[in-house]
Amino acid sequence: MKQRIEITAQELARQRDIMERVAELNAGLEPPPLALVDTYGCQQNEADSEKLRGMLKAMGYGETRDEYAADVIVINTCAVREHAEQRVLGNVGALTHTKKARPSQIICLCGCMMQEPGMADRIKNSYRHVRVVFGPHELWRFPEFLLRQLQGEGRIFETAPSDGCVAEGLPSSRDSAVKAWLPVMYGCDNFCSYCIVPYVRGRERSRRPEDVLEEARALAAAGYKDITLLGQNVNSYGKDLPEGVDFSDLIARINDIPGDFLIRFMTSHPKDAGEKLFSTMANCEKCARHIHLPFQSGSNRVLSAMNRRYTREAYLDLIRMARAYMPDVVLTSDVIVGFPGETEEEFEDTLRLVEEVRFDALFTFIFSPRTGTPAARMPDPFTREEKQRRFDALVALQNRISEEKHRAYVGRALRVLVDGQEGDYLTSRTSGGRLVRLRADASLTGTFQTVRITGSNTWALFGELV
Ligand code: SAM
Ligand code: SF4
Ligand code: F3S
Repeated sequence: MKQRIEITAQELARQRDIMERVAELNAGLEPPPLALVDTYGCQQNEADSEKLRGMLKAMGYGETRDEYAADVIVINTCAVREHAEQRVLGNVGALTHTKKARPSQIICLCGCMMQEPGMADRIKNSYRHVRVVFGPHELWRFPEFLLRQLQGEGRIFETAPSDGCVAEGLPSSRDSAVKAWLPVMYGCDNFCSYCIVPYVRGRERSRRPEDVLEEARALAAAGYKDITLLGQNVNSYGKDLPEGVDFSDLIARINDIPGDFLIRFMTSHPKDAGEKLFSTMANCEKCARHIHLPFQSGSNRVLSAMNRRYTREAYLDLIRMARAYMPDVVLTSDVIVGFPGETEEEFEDTLRLVEEVRFDALFTFIFSPRTGTPAARMPDPFTREEKQRRFDALVALQNRISEEKHRAYVGRALRVLVDGQEGDYLTSRTSGGRLVRLRADASLTGTFQTVRITGSNTWALFGELV
């Protein structure tokens, strides 16, 4: 069994004491101090940012979206593709102006990008207005870093390589009152050859089932209607724990919690998903009829070079099995176009797989070389223009399929959860996660409703209350 690092109750209590001290320092301030948390990347980062906001709130900070009004700015970064990094660095550069206008402003950078080799030095030397830099493994120490800044200490850099830890009981200030993220595990051990996540997020480690269940019970009791279990590969949940509870068991136990709510999860890795997961989903009435099952490529040669450890045929078998258990299941996936050396024929294998499965939606990415990963060292003879052409072809194919699948909903009556408002429409989601826009009273937010689908396009359905 791998070594697990659980942050001790003592250490966490120390951070809680620090939060109280900072809250006391802030209590006398008029106007009250404000903080801004900006998030890049995936749901894991969203969940981490809710913890950062929770800690800031406990320390007496109000929230703002105005960079000039903020006393503390925290940017939670993502390293998965170069584009995301460029955006972060551009925005951090622009904060020199806010720092000049408000010299006491404390600018912090955290998240996956900070854990990349060389990044902390780059920030140290080229972004001198940044005061605190820490990686995902040090998130729970944020109160301490902030206090040290308020006490006038020098710049802080805490990004030592680490396998990662589990820290329970951090406060969380959730973005929505309807939908909640519930991380069940952290890190990744899969080392797909293109991916930086295992290097920056550390080894796979699960939260104890009791901790997950306690949080799920609290969310259900607080009225959350949509709970998404998070992990980079949720199907490995529990493998590092002695309890003998796997991911399907965990879903079944959450399903037993009283209340009317949906259970979602992401992400499943095809090499670990299987019959037990699908039968559990089919048997759990609270489990949403949606699987996000990234296939990445339709070519066996490329899948092998990606170190994905399944074949196109095994993936298609899995899809058939999921549909046998849940004929109405909504399927979404991630695909990478232009992996090093991917030939035109190999790309066409991806197009054929998309045609064959007919996903409801796809998240498509052009390969982005990440320093330190094996794929970044592979010969890559195809031009950016060539990859863009393939990307456009894939998106056009998927848009056609999404549009056709959405059109088939018209006339049906579906149960949806109303979760927000956009312009003149309320937004809602089906159990399969399809977006349904409807005109109705905003007071319905947070309730399940039955709607009749009256129209559709590539990205959404339109409905009216039944
Ligand atoms: N753990 C999840 C999985 O295995 O599917 C997803 C993690 S990753 C944050 C989300 C998606 O980003 C991946 O599924 C992959 O399609 C894409 N991705 C990861 N690394 C990439 C890279 N270097 N270039 C382009 N896309 C990448
Ligand atoms: Fe990255 Fe692969 Fe892990 Fe997903 S499973 S986070 S793609 S290494
Ligand atoms: Fe990005 Fe880190 Fe998520 S690299 S995609 S924020 S795990």
